[in-house]
Amino acid sequence: MLARTPAPPINHLASDAEFDGVYDEDIRDLSGQHWTPVRVAVRAAKLLTRAGARRILDVGSGVGKFCIAGALSTDATYVGLERRGRLVEIARSAAAHYGAERATFIHGNLDDFSFAGFSGIYLFNPFYEHISALVVPIDETVERSPIKYEHLVHTTTAKLDKLDPPVAVVTYNGFGGPMPIMYTFVGEEPAGSDRLELWVKS
Ligand SMILES: C[S@@+](CC[C@H](N)C(=O)[O-])C[C@H]1O[C@@H](n2cnc3c(N)ncnc32)[C@H](O)[C@@H]1O
Repeated sequence: MLARTPAPPINHLASDAEFDGVYDEDIRDLSGQHWTPVRVAVRAAKLLTRAGARRILDVGSGVGKFCIAGALSTDATYVGLERRGRLVEIARSAAAHYGAERATFIHGNLDDFSFAGFSGIYLFNPFYEHISALVVPIDETVERSPIKYEHLVHTTTAKLDKLDPPVAVVTYNGFGGPMPIMYTFVGEEPAGSDRLELWVKS
């Protein structure tokens, strides 16, 4: 159940403590490791939209922080893809709470999902849980498997490669693989626990 707190304004000054007030304690406890900090999300969304992205996909959207913060701080449309149904429900409730109408969420797996039609992609190291013994597991469904990890990273690279230009990609903590050759590295900047990188295919 989502906590019933008044919706704070979401901008580059909103704190994660404020934003995360919409989530139950178990979800808040995962925030530091698994969900994009609000300021990083707002900045990533601005990098994508300034590069021309209008319809943006968050691969592995968790409880929706990137999509919601993006929808409330830019005029683009955001779609979150998430394999865990419970997190999709939580993200949808949080988006409703914040009035983020341009943030929607799909329950599905990367393997079965086409990137076609998206002009922006956001990746916060979505598959790392398959190989890291250091991160707190989101739940018991994590399959620790370097083979699975390599498969998902390779699949992501292939889907990025197939995307029609123009497209912009922002990574936070990378995604585990190289960008396809047709993408140009625009730049990087320190953000949160790591850095944001912007790539474009034009
Ligand atoms: C590091 S979290 C990032 C969450 C969100 N993007 C954010 O920035 O707040 C990665 C998310 O990717 C999801 N995920 C992992 N593998 C996936 C897959 N194959 N298909 C869809 N979602 C996946 C996980 O369930 C997790 O919620």
